[in-house]
Amino acid sequence: MTHRKIKKQKNMHRLYGLKILKSNHPQMRSLKRSGHVAEIHGHKVWNASYLIMDYLKKHPLPKRTRLLEIGCGWGLLSQYCAKNFNCRVHGIDADRNVLPYLQLHAEINQVRMTAEKRSFKQSTKDFLSNFDLIVGSDICFWDEMVSELFNLVVRAKKSGVKQVIIADPSRPPFHALSERCQEKFARVEVIDKRISRPVKLDGDILIVR
Ligand SMILES: C[S@@+](CC[C@H](N)C(=O)[O-])C[C@H]1O[C@@H](n2cnc3c(N)ncnc32)[C@H](O)[C@@H]1O
Repeated sequence: MTHRKIKKQKNMHRLYGLKILKSNHPQMRSLKRSGHVAEIHGHKVWNASYLIMDYLKKHPLPKRTRLLEIGCGWGLLSQYCAKNFNCRVHGIDADRNVLPYLQLHAEINQVRMTAEKRSFKQSTKDFLSNFDLIVGSDICFWDEMVSELFNLVVRAKKSGVKQVIIADPSRPPFHALSERCQEKFARVEVIDKRISRPVKLDGDILIVR
């Protein structure tokens, strides 16, 4: 009889087929020691990203979709799309300190992901025209973000982006953004989404087509 030892990894979570390192993982500690400390809440993977992963299980993306993740943090949502739908993924974030954590997770998840420091406002029509799909999770939490994101969506639609998907745990600025998109665009859906795993979560997904 063979006995297979199941070794629990104490410094890593496994969710949606992705590895997510805990802060006590040696490589995470080493990044923190070298001074990479997130400044705009990009210090972890936020739960709203699981709302989109769950939605995409039932609404798969076309293969090789050119995907841009805005306010990407560690980029796990992009890495999920690269792994499951063979998307080409790029992330932008206003905080350069999140980028080493993103690259570390791309490596451990064996995904090719590019990323750069760039804000919502700096995402020009020219830049956005390189993508088919824009995704973002938990990126509309301050009032000033409403106009910045609304203007980004307007530029994205003008530059040929087919779809924008943004998830949120239903904060007031996100609702303001959804209302502005509903007034401006014809094909907008706001989905009330609940998941019970890996966490219990009730939130919304805004989709602009
Ligand atoms: C709450 S975290 C969410 C991170 C990631 N999307 C997730 O779900 O795990 C918000 C992220 O948005 C970034 N961010 C905030 N303001 C931004 C802006 N104006 N332009 C681009 N990124 C921004 C932050 O640096 C941070 O990484």
